[in-house]
Amino acid sequence: MNILLLGSGGREHALARKIRQSEKTASLFIAPGNSGTACEGTNVDIDVNDFEALKAFALANNVQMVVPGPEDPLVKGIYDFFGGDPELKDIPVIGPSRRGAMMEGSKDFAKAFMMRHRIPTARYKSVTAGTIGEGYGFLDTLRAPYVLKADGLAAGKGVLIIDSPGEAKSELASMLAGRFGDAGRTVVIEEFLDGVECSVFALTDGTNYKILPVAKDYKRIGEGNTGLNTGGMGAVSPVPFAGKAFMEKVESRIIRPTVEGLRTEGIDYKGFIFFGLINVKGEPFVIEYNCRMGDPETEVVMLRIQNDLVTLLEGVASGRLGELTLTEDPRAAATVMLVSGGYPGAYEKGRPITGLAGHIPADTVIFHAGARASGREVFTCGGRVLAVSSYGAGINEALAQSYRVIAGLHFDKMYYRTDIGFDLQYDEGQADRL
Ligand code: AMP
Ligand code: GLY
Repeated sequence: MNILLLGSGGREHALARKIRQSEKTASLFIAPGNSGTACEGTNVDIDVNDFEALKAFALANNVQMVVPGPEDPLVKGIYDFFGGDPELKDIPVIGPSRRGAMMEGSKDFAKAFMMRHRIPTARYKSVTAGTIGEGYGFLDTLRAPYVLKADGLAAGKGVLIIDSPGEAKSELASMLAGRFGDAGRTVVIEEFLDGVECSVFALTDGTNYKILPVAKDYKRIGEGNTGLNTGGMGAVSPVPFAGKAFMEKVESRIIRPTVEGLRTEGIDYKGFIFFGLINVKGEPFVIEYNCRMGDPETEVVMLRIQNDLVTLLEGVASGRLGELTLTEDPRAAATVMLVSGGYPGAYEKGRPITGLAGHIPADTVIFHAGARASGREVFTCGGRVLAVSSYGAGINEALAQSYRVIAGLHFDKMYYRTDIGFDLQYDEGQADRL
Protein backbone atom coordinates (compact mmCIF):
# COMPACT_ATOMS: atom_id res chain seq x y z
CA MET A 1 0.00 0.00 0.00
CA ASN A 2 1.18 3.55 -0.73
CA ILE A 3 0.77 5.82 2.27
CA LEU A 4 0.94 9.61 2.57
CA LEU A 5 1.81 10.91 6.04
CA LEU A 6 1.32 14.61 6.80
CA GLY A 7 3.55 16.64 9.13
CA SER A 8 7.17 17.37 9.93
CA GLY A 9 7.85 16.80 13.63
CA GLY A 10 9.15 14.11 15.95
CA ARG A 11 5.65 12.63 16.04
CA GLU A 12 5.73 12.17 12.28
CA HIS A 13 9.19 10.60 12.34
CA ALA A 14 7.92 8.11 14.94
CA LEU A 15 4.81 7.36 12.85
CA ALA A 16 6.90 7.09 9.69
CA ARG A 17 9.28 4.58 11.28
CA LYS A 18 6.39 2.44 12.47
CA ILE A 19 4.64 2.59 9.07
CA ARG A 20 7.92 1.75 7.32
CA GLN A 21 8.30 -1.36 9.50
CA SER A 22 5.09 -2.82 8.09
CA GLU A 23 5.36 -5.35 5.29
CA LYS A 24 2.18 -3.84 3.89
CA THR A 25 3.88 -0.54 3.12
CA ALA A 26 5.03 -0.23 -0.48
CA SER A 27 5.81 3.49 -0.73
CA LEU A 28 5.71 5.96 2.14
CA PHE A 29 5.53 9.66 1.33
CA ILE A 30 5.80 12.38 3.97
CA ALA A 31 4.57 15.94 3.32
CA PRO A 32 6.61 17.96 4.08
CA GLY A 33 8.67 15.72 6.44
CA ASN A 34 12.10 16.37 7.95
CA SER A 35 15.60 14.87 7.94
CA GLY A 36 14.36 11.90 9.99
CA THR A 37 11.35 11.02 7.86
CA ALA A 38 13.61 11.21 4.78
CA CYS A 39 15.30 8.04 6.09
CA GLU A 40 11.95 6.21 6.30
CA GLY A 41 10.37 7.26 3.01
CA THR A 42 10.21 10.07 0.45
CA ASN A 43 9.66 13.65 1.59
CA VAL A 44 7.43 15.73 -0.66
CA ASP A 45 7.44 19.48 -0.41
CA ILE A 46 3.71 20.13 0.08
CA ASP A 47 2.08 22.10 2.89
CA VAL A 48 -0.23 19.97 5.08
CA ASN A 49 -3.05 22.48 4.49
CA ASP A 50 -2.73 22.67 0.71
CA PHE A 51 -5.50 20.16 -0.02
CA GLU A 52 -5.48 20.71 -3.79
CA ALA A 53 -1.76 19.98 -4.00
CA LEU A 54 -2.21 16.91 -1.77
CA LYS A 55 -4.99 15.73 -4.08
CA ALA A 56 -2.84 16.06 -7.18
CA PHE A 57 0.01 14.23 -5.46
CA ALA A 58 -2.23 11.45 -4.15
CA LEU A 59 -3.72 10.78 -7.56
CA ALA A 60 -0.40 10.92 -9.38
CA ASN A 61 1.25 8.52 -6.93
CA ASN A 62 -1.56 6.04 -6.32
CA VAL A 63 -1.78 6.93 -2.60
CA GLN A 64 -4.08 4.47 -0.82
CA MET A 65 -4.16 5.95 2.69
CA VAL A 66 -3.57 9.40 4.22
CA VAL A 67 -2.37 9.75 7.82
CA PRO A 68 -2.47 13.33 9.14
CA GLY A 69 -0.06 13.92 12.05
CA PRO A 70 -1.00 17.46 13.23
CA GLU A 71 -4.45 18.86 14.02
CA ASP A 72 -4.44 21.69 11.52
CA PRO A 73 -5.47 19.81 8.35
CA LEU A 74 -8.06 17.85 10.38
CA VAL A 75 -9.61 20.97 11.87
CA LYS A 76 -9.61 22.47 8.34
CA GLY A 77 -11.54 19.40 7.09
CA ILE A 78 -9.14 17.17 5.15
CA TYR A 79 -11.33 14.14 5.96
CA ASP A 80 -14.39 15.82 4.41
CA PHE A 81 -12.32 17.10 1.47
CA PHE A 82 -11.25 13.57 0.53
CA GLY A 83 -14.64 12.02 1.32
CA GLY A 84 -16.49 14.59 -0.79
CA ASP A 85 -14.30 14.33 -3.88
CA PRO A 86 -15.32 11.64 -6.40
CA GLU A 87 -11.67 10.98 -7.30
CA LEU A 88 -10.47 10.75 -3.68
CA LYS A 89 -13.40 9.28 -1.81
CA ASP A 90 -11.97 5.73 -1.74
CA ILE A 91 -8.71 6.87 -0.14
CA PRO A 92 -9.18 6.62 3.65
CA VAL A 93 -8.00 9.54 5.78
CA ILE A 94 -7.10 8.39 9.30
CA GLY A 95 -8.69 11.10 11.41
CA PRO A 96 -11.98 12.71 12.29
CA SER A 97 -14.29 14.73 10.09
CA ARG A 98 -14.16 18.51 10.48
CA ARG A 99 -16.97 18.25 13.01
CA GLY A 100 -15.15 15.54 14.98
CA ALA A 101 -11.98 17.66 14.98
CA MET A 102 -13.96 20.36 16.80
CA MET A 103 -13.34 18.26 19.90
CA GLU A 104 -9.91 19.92 19.71
CA GLY A 105 -10.73 22.96 17.59
CA SER A 106 -13.33 24.35 20.00
CA LYS A 107 -13.04 23.98 23.78
CA ASP A 108 -16.67 25.12 24.10
CA PHE A 109 -17.79 22.34 21.73
CA ALA A 110 -15.76 19.76 23.70
CA LYS A 111 -17.17 20.91 27.06
CA ALA A 112 -20.75 20.83 25.80
CA PHE A 113 -20.12 17.32 24.40
CA MET A 114 -18.82 16.17 27.79
CA MET A 115 -21.86 17.63 29.54
CA ARG A 116 -24.23 15.83 27.15
CA HIS A 117 -22.50 12.52 27.79
CA ARG A 118 -21.78 13.01 31.50
CA ILE A 119 -18.04 12.70 31.00
CA PRO A 120 -16.12 13.93 34.06
CA THR A 121 -14.46 17.31 33.50
CA ALA A 122 -13.96 20.60 35.36
CA ARG A 123 -17.03 22.75 36.04
CA TYR A 124 -17.14 25.58 33.49
CA LYS A 125 -18.92 28.46 31.83
CA SER A 126 -18.43 29.71 28.27
CA VAL A 127 -18.73 33.47 27.74
CA THR A 128 -18.51 35.99 24.91
CA ALA A 129 -18.18 39.78 24.98
CA GLY A 130 -21.98 39.98 25.24
CA THR A 131 -22.10 37.78 28.36
CA ILE A 132 -18.97 38.95 30.16
CA GLY A 133 -21.04 39.86 33.23
CA GLU A 134 -22.02 36.20 33.63
CA GLY A 135 -18.34 35.36 33.37
CA TYR A 136 -17.49 37.71 36.24
CA GLY A 137 -20.34 36.16 38.24
CA PHE A 138 -19.04 32.62 37.55
CA LEU A 139 -15.51 33.63 38.56
CA ASP A 140 -16.98 34.81 41.90
CA THR A 141 -18.24 31.26 42.55
CA LEU A 142 -14.75 29.73 42.05
CA ARG A 143 -11.70 29.55 44.26
CA ALA A 144 -8.20 30.46 43.04
CA PRO A 145 -6.43 29.62 40.83
CA TYR A 146 -8.69 30.52 37.89
CA VAL A 147 -8.46 28.84 34.48
CA LEU A 148 -9.29 30.83 31.33
CA LYS A 149 -9.20 29.13 27.93
CA ALA A 150 -9.52 30.65 24.48
CA ASP A 151 -12.15 28.58 22.68
CA GLY A 152 -10.23 28.12 19.42
CA LEU A 153 -6.79 26.88 18.43
CA ALA A 154 -4.14 29.21 19.84
CA ALA A 155 -0.95 27.22 19.21
CA GLY A 156 -0.94 25.89 22.78
CA LYS A 157 -0.86 29.40 24.23
CA GLY A 158 -4.57 29.97 24.79
CA VAL A 159 -4.78 28.75 28.42
CA LEU A 160 -4.15 31.10 31.35
CA ILE A 161 -3.96 30.02 34.98
CA ILE A 162 -4.30 33.02 37.24
CA ASP A 163 -4.06 33.41 41.02
CA SER A 164 -5.92 36.65 41.74
CA PRO A 165 -9.64 37.18 41.06
CA GLY A 166 -9.07 40.78 39.93
CA GLU A 167 -6.46 39.73 37.41
CA ALA A 168 -8.69 36.87 36.21
CA LYS A 169 -11.43 39.40 35.42
CA SER A 170 -9.15 41.79 33.60
CA GLU A 171 -7.57 38.91 31.60
CA LEU A 172 -11.05 37.69 30.71
CA ALA A 173 -11.90 41.14 29.36
CA SER A 174 -8.64 41.31 27.41
CA MET A 175 -9.15 37.85 25.87
CA LEU A 176 -12.69 38.74 24.81
CA ALA A 177 -11.36 41.98 23.34
CA GLY A 178 -9.12 40.00 21.01
CA ARG A 179 -5.87 39.20 22.83
CA PHE A 180 -5.78 35.78 21.13
CA GLY A 181 -7.52 36.98 17.98
CA ASP A 182 -10.66 35.15 16.94
CA ALA A 183 -9.63 32.05 18.96
CA GLY A 184 -10.54 33.99 22.12
CA ARG A 185 -13.85 35.54 21.06
CA THR A 186 -15.39 32.82 23.21
CA VAL A 187 -13.65 32.00 26.50
CA VAL A 188 -14.17 28.89 28.61
CA ILE A 189 -13.80 29.66 32.33
CA GLU A 190 -12.99 26.53 34.32
CA GLU A 191 -12.66 25.37 37.85
CA PHE A 192 -9.02 24.45 38.60
CA LEU A 193 -8.38 20.74 39.10
CA ASP A 194 -5.44 19.80 41.28
CA GLY A 195 -3.75 16.56 40.24
CA VAL A 196 -1.23 14.84 38.00
CA GLU A 197 -1.77 14.77 34.25
CA CYS A 198 -1.36 11.94 31.78
CA SER A 199 -2.07 11.37 28.10
CA VAL A 200 -4.36 8.54 27.06
CA PHE A 201 -4.77 7.66 23.39
CA ALA A 202 -7.42 5.60 21.67
CA LEU A 203 -7.64 4.54 18.06
CA THR A 204 -11.24 4.19 16.87
CA ASP A 205 -13.05 3.09 13.73
CA GLY A 206 -16.15 4.94 14.91
CA THR A 207 -17.56 1.95 16.82
CA ASN A 208 -14.67 -0.12 18.19
CA TYR A 209 -11.62 1.32 19.88
CA LYS A 210 -8.20 0.24 21.06
CA ILE A 211 -6.51 1.93 24.00
CA LEU A 212 -2.85 2.63 23.23
CA PRO A 213 -0.04 2.66 25.84
CA VAL A 214 -0.50 5.52 28.33
CA ALA A 215 2.10 8.29 28.41
CA LYS A 216 2.98 11.38 30.39
CA ASP A 217 4.56 14.43 28.84
CA TYR A 218 6.50 17.29 30.41
CA LYS A 219 5.27 20.58 28.98
CA ARG A 220 7.24 23.22 30.87
CA ILE A 221 10.65 24.43 29.70
CA GLY A 222 12.29 24.36 33.15
CA GLU A 223 13.37 21.68 35.60
CA GLY A 224 10.73 20.72 38.13
CA ASN A 225 7.92 21.74 35.74
CA THR A 226 8.65 25.46 35.90
CA GLY A 227 8.69 28.26 33.34
CA LEU A 228 6.90 28.64 30.05
CA ASN A 229 4.80 26.00 28.34
CA THR A 230 6.37 24.27 25.35
CA GLY A 231 5.12 21.68 22.88
CA GLY A 232 6.60 19.09 25.24
CA MET A 233 10.14 18.49 26.59
CA GLY A 234 9.96 14.75 27.10
CA ALA A 235 7.63 11.83 27.74
CA VAL A 236 7.52 8.47 29.43
CA SER A 237 5.36 5.35 29.12
CA PRO A 238 3.88 3.56 31.01
CA VAL A 239 2.65 5.89 33.75
CA PRO A 240 2.91 4.24 37.18
CA PHE A 241 -0.30 5.78 38.58
CA ALA A 242 -2.32 4.80 35.52
CA GLY A 243 -2.57 1.16 36.48
CA LYS A 244 -5.47 -1.24 36.04
CA ALA A 245 -7.91 0.36 38.50
CA PHE A 246 -7.40 3.89 37.16
CA MET A 247 -7.61 2.77 33.53
CA GLU A 248 -10.84 0.89 34.15
CA LYS A 249 -12.37 4.18 35.32
CA VAL A 250 -10.89 5.98 32.32
CA GLU A 251 -12.37 3.45 29.93
CA SER A 252 -15.85 3.23 31.44
CA ARG A 253 -16.31 6.93 32.32
CA ILE A 254 -14.38 8.61 29.51
CA ILE A 255 -13.28 6.54 26.51
CA ARG A 256 -16.41 4.45 25.96
CA PRO A 257 -18.86 7.35 26.44
CA THR A 258 -16.76 9.51 24.10
CA VAL A 259 -16.73 6.97 21.26
CA GLU A 260 -20.41 6.17 21.88
CA GLY A 261 -21.30 9.86 22.04
CA LEU A 262 -19.59 10.63 18.75
CA ARG A 263 -21.36 7.70 17.11
CA THR A 264 -24.84 8.48 18.45
CA GLU A 265 -24.47 12.14 17.47
CA GLY A 266 -23.56 11.09 13.93
CA ILE A 267 -20.08 12.62 14.10
CA ASP A 268 -17.70 10.78 11.76
CA TYR A 269 -14.57 9.95 13.73
CA LYS A 270 -12.15 7.28 12.49
CA GLY A 271 -8.73 7.99 13.90
CA PHE A 272 -6.76 8.84 17.00
CA ILE A 273 -8.40 10.46 20.04
CA PHE A 274 -6.05 12.05 22.58
CA PHE A 275 -7.54 12.39 26.05
CA GLY A 276 -5.59 14.90 28.15
CA LEU A 277 -6.49 13.66 31.62
CA ILE A 278 -5.87 14.73 35.17
CA ASN A 279 -5.84 12.31 38.07
CA VAL A 280 -7.49 13.94 41.07
CA LYS A 281 -7.01 11.57 44.01
CA GLY A 282 -7.50 8.50 41.82
CA GLU A 283 -10.44 9.93 39.82
CA PRO A 284 -9.86 10.78 36.14
CA PHE A 285 -11.14 14.05 34.61
CA VAL A 286 -10.79 15.30 31.03
CA ILE A 287 -8.71 18.47 30.68
CA GLU A 288 -8.85 18.48 26.91
CA TYR A 289 -9.43 16.41 23.80
CA ASN A 290 -7.09 16.45 20.84
CA CYS A 291 -7.95 14.93 17.49
CA ARG A 292 -4.48 13.52 16.81
CA MET A 293 -1.55 11.89 18.56
CA GLY A 294 0.57 13.92 21.00
CA ASP A 295 4.12 15.06 20.45
CA PRO A 296 6.40 13.87 22.16
CA GLU A 297 4.05 11.16 23.44
CA THR A 298 3.98 9.45 20.02
CA GLU A 299 7.74 8.93 20.29
CA VAL A 300 7.20 6.63 23.29
CA VAL A 301 3.76 5.24 22.40
CA MET A 302 4.91 3.96 18.97
CA LEU A 303 7.91 2.26 20.59
CA ARG A 304 5.54 0.38 22.90
CA ILE A 305 3.01 -0.83 20.30
CA GLN A 306 4.00 -4.27 19.05
CA ASN A 307 1.28 -4.50 16.40
CA ASP A 308 1.82 -3.70 12.77
CA LEU A 309 0.57 -0.10 12.65
CA VAL A 310 -0.67 -0.32 9.06
CA THR A 311 -2.85 -3.31 10.00
CA LEU A 312 -4.35 -1.23 12.82
CA LEU A 313 -4.95 1.72 10.48
CA GLU A 314 -6.56 -0.59 7.91
CA GLY A 315 -8.84 -1.80 10.72
CA VAL A 316 -9.81 1.82 11.38
CA ALA A 317 -10.60 2.42 7.72
CA SER A 318 -12.59 -0.80 7.24
CA GLY A 319 -14.48 -0.60 10.54
CA ARG A 320 -12.97 -3.93 11.62
CA LEU A 321 -10.70 -2.70 14.39
CA GLY A 322 -12.67 -4.90 16.80
CA GLU A 323 -11.14 -8.02 15.25
CA LEU A 324 -7.62 -6.97 16.26
CA THR A 325 -5.85 -7.20 19.62
CA LEU A 326 -3.43 -4.51 20.70
CA THR A 327 -0.17 -5.80 22.18
CA GLU A 328 2.04 -3.58 24.31
CA ASP A 329 5.75 -4.02 24.64
CA PRO A 330 6.39 -4.89 28.31
CA ARG A 331 9.40 -2.59 28.37
CA ALA A 332 9.12 1.07 29.33
CA ALA A 333 10.04 3.88 26.94
CA ALA A 334 11.22 7.43 27.55
CA THR A 335 12.06 10.33 25.30
CA VAL A 336 14.01 13.50 26.03
CA MET A 337 13.66 16.48 23.70
CA LEU A 338 16.75 18.45 22.71
CA VAL A 339 15.72 22.02 21.96
CA SER A 340 17.28 25.20 20.59
CA GLY A 341 18.41 27.66 23.27
CA GLY A 342 15.76 30.36 23.74
CA TYR A 343 12.83 28.08 22.88
CA PRO A 344 9.85 28.52 23.43
CA GLY A 345 10.80 32.15 22.78
CA ALA A 346 13.07 33.30 19.94
CA TYR A 347 15.88 30.92 18.94
CA GLU A 348 18.42 30.50 16.15
CA LYS A 349 18.14 27.99 13.33
CA GLY A 350 20.60 26.41 10.94
CA ARG A 351 23.07 25.11 13.55
CA PRO A 352 24.89 21.91 12.56
CA ILE A 353 24.08 18.85 14.68
CA THR A 354 26.98 16.56 15.51
CA GLY A 355 27.04 13.04 16.94
CA LEU A 356 24.21 11.54 14.88
CA ALA A 357 26.62 9.34 12.95
CA GLY A 358 28.14 7.97 16.16
CA HIS A 359 27.27 4.67 17.77
CA ILE A 360 23.58 4.64 18.76
CA PRO A 361 22.62 1.60 20.88
CA ALA A 362 19.97 -0.75 19.48
CA ASP A 363 17.44 0.16 22.18
CA THR A 364 17.56 3.89 21.37
CA VAL A 365 15.95 5.71 18.46
CA ILE A 366 16.66 9.37 17.76
CA PHE A 367 13.55 10.92 16.24
CA HIS A 368 14.14 14.12 14.30
CA ALA A 369 11.78 17.03 14.92
CA GLY A 370 12.99 20.52 13.90
CA ALA A 371 15.90 19.15 11.88
CA ARG A 372 16.67 19.22 8.17
CA ALA A 373 19.36 17.61 6.08
CA SER A 374 21.64 19.36 3.66
CA GLY A 375 23.96 16.97 1.91
CA ARG A 376 25.24 14.62 4.58
CA GLU A 377 24.87 17.12 7.38
CA VAL A 378 21.85 17.73 9.59
CA PHE A 379 20.96 21.23 10.80
CA THR A 380 18.52 22.59 13.37
CA CYS A 381 15.43 24.23 11.87
CA GLY A 382 13.00 24.44 14.78
CA GLY A 383 12.62 24.86 18.53
CA ARG A 384 12.30 21.18 19.29
CA VAL A 385 15.11 19.50 17.39
CA LEU A 386 15.61 15.83 18.37
CA ALA A 387 13.64 13.41 20.55
CA VAL A 388 16.09 10.90 22.02
CA SER A 389 13.96 7.86 22.77
CA SER A 390 14.94 4.63 24.51
CA TYR A 391 13.59 1.40 25.87
CA GLY A 392 14.39 0.17 29.38
CA ALA A 393 13.13 -2.40 31.86
CA GLY A 394 11.49 0.56 33.63
CA ILE A 395 11.22 4.31 33.10
CA ASN A 396 14.40 5.08 35.03
CA GLU A 397 16.47 2.71 32.93
CA ALA A 398 14.98 4.07 29.69
CA LEU A 399 15.74 7.64 30.79
CA ALA A 400 19.30 6.82 31.84
CA GLN A 401 19.87 5.29 28.42
CA SER A 402 18.57 8.41 26.61
CA TYR A 403 20.72 10.69 28.75
CA ARG A 404 23.80 8.57 27.96
CA VAL A 405 23.13 8.94 24.25
CA ILE A 406 22.51 12.69 24.61
CA ALA A 407 26.03 13.09 26.01
CA GLY A 408 27.32 12.28 22.50
CA LEU A 409 25.06 14.76 20.66
CA HIS A 410 25.65 18.45 20.21
CA PHE A 411 24.51 21.65 18.54
CA ASP A 412 25.12 25.26 19.46
CA LYS A 413 22.93 26.35 22.44
CA MET A 414 21.43 22.87 22.84
CA TYR A 415 19.17 22.64 25.89
CA TYR A 416 17.20 19.82 27.49
CA ARG A 417 15.60 18.99 30.79
CA THR A 418 17.60 16.63 32.95
CA ASP A 419 14.63 15.67 35.14
CA ILE A 420 12.11 14.01 32.80
CA GLY A 421 10.11 11.50 34.87
CA PHE A 422 11.24 13.13 38.13
CA ASP A 423 7.74 13.00 39.65
CA LEU A 424 7.21 9.33 38.82
CA GLN A 425 10.08 7.69 40.65
CA TYR A 426 9.28 4.07 41.22
CA ASP A 427 11.12 0.81 41.36
CA GLU A 428 12.22 -0.75 38.10
CA GLY A 429 10.13 -3.73 37.18
CA GLN A 430 6.92 -2.08 38.31
CA ALA A 431 6.04 -1.61 34.62
CA ASP A 432 5.65 -5.37 34.34
CA ARG A 433 3.15 -5.49 37.15
CA LEU A 434 0.91 -2.65 35.99
P1 AMP B 1 -5.11 22.63 27.63
O1 AMP B 1 -4.61 23.40 26.43
O2 AMP B 1 -6.58 22.63 27.78
O3 AMP B 1 -4.49 21.25 27.68
O4 AMP B 1 -4.48 23.32 28.91
C1 AMP B 1 -3.08 23.50 29.03
C2 AMP B 1 -2.62 23.11 30.40
O5 AMP B 1 -3.28 23.91 31.41
C3 AMP B 1 -2.98 21.68 30.77
O6 AMP B 1 -2.05 20.77 30.31
C4 AMP B 1 -3.04 21.76 32.27
O7 AMP B 1 -1.73 21.68 32.82
C5 AMP B 1 -3.56 23.13 32.55
N1 AMP B 1 -5.02 23.11 32.78
C6 AMP B 1 -5.97 23.27 31.86
N2 AMP B 1 -7.20 23.20 32.42
C7 AMP B 1 -7.02 22.99 33.74
C8 AMP B 1 -7.89 22.82 34.87
N3 AMP B 1 -9.21 22.89 34.73
N4 AMP B 1 -7.33 22.59 36.06
C9 AMP B 1 -5.99 22.53 36.19
N5 AMP B 1 -5.11 22.70 35.19
C10 AMP B 1 -5.60 22.92 33.97
N1 GLY C 1 2.33 16.84 24.06
C1 GLY C 1 1.08 17.47 24.03
C2 GLY C 1 0.50 17.66 22.70
O1 GLY C 1 0.88 17.07 21.72
O2 GLY C 1 -0.45 18.43 22.60
